[in-house]
Amino acid sequence: MKTGRSEFITESPEETKKLAANLAKSIKPPKIVALYGDLGAGKTTFVRGFAEGLGVKGVRSPSFTLINEYTNSVKIYHVDLYRVEDPGELYPAGFYEIIKDKNAFILIEWPEKIQQVVKFDILVYISHLNEFSRKLVIEIP
Ligand SMILES: Nc1ncnc2c1ncn2[C@@H]1O[C@H](COP(=O)(O)OP(=O)(O)O)[C@@H](O)[C@H]1O
Ligand SMILES: [Mg+2]
Repeated sequence: MKTGRSEFITESPEETKKLAANLAKSIKPPKIVALYGDLGAGKTTFVRGFAEGLGVKGVRSPSFTLINEYTNSVKIYHVDLYRVEDPGELYPAGFYEIIKDKNAFILIEWPEKIQQVVKFDILVYISHLNEFSRKLVIEIP
């Protein structure tokens, strides 16, 4: 995993998933991945691809559950902070324990809600170009 900034354009959800799967296969836990982007940008699609890259199928959006956990050879936590207003709301859900898990990937939608209190290892910025095109910027500080 090299540090720096890479830019990609994808032309379909499948391409975004492939890119995410490739990223998943090129890194080792623990990693906290921040996924920035508007509603419908493709954050959940990215997580679905990332998980499939590690052999995990059936990723569903955690917008109501807050955190979904998947286990295969590694653990994947998929977090959606859309409804969270204050980082303190995440204590009951066990979020601050989860982010210390050395065997896990943690992927976070709406990371701006906690970027003051959590350090991210990988930052992904997804933006809408048109119906099926997205720009993805992957930054590894
Ligand atoms: N290139 C693309 N990459 C990702 N999603 C795409 C792309 N083109 C179209 N889409 C569609 O955009 C939507 C993205 O939804 P989702 O992943 O749930 O976004 P978010 O989690 O950011 O709100 C899906 O309906 C997906 O099929
Ligand atoms: Mg989503």
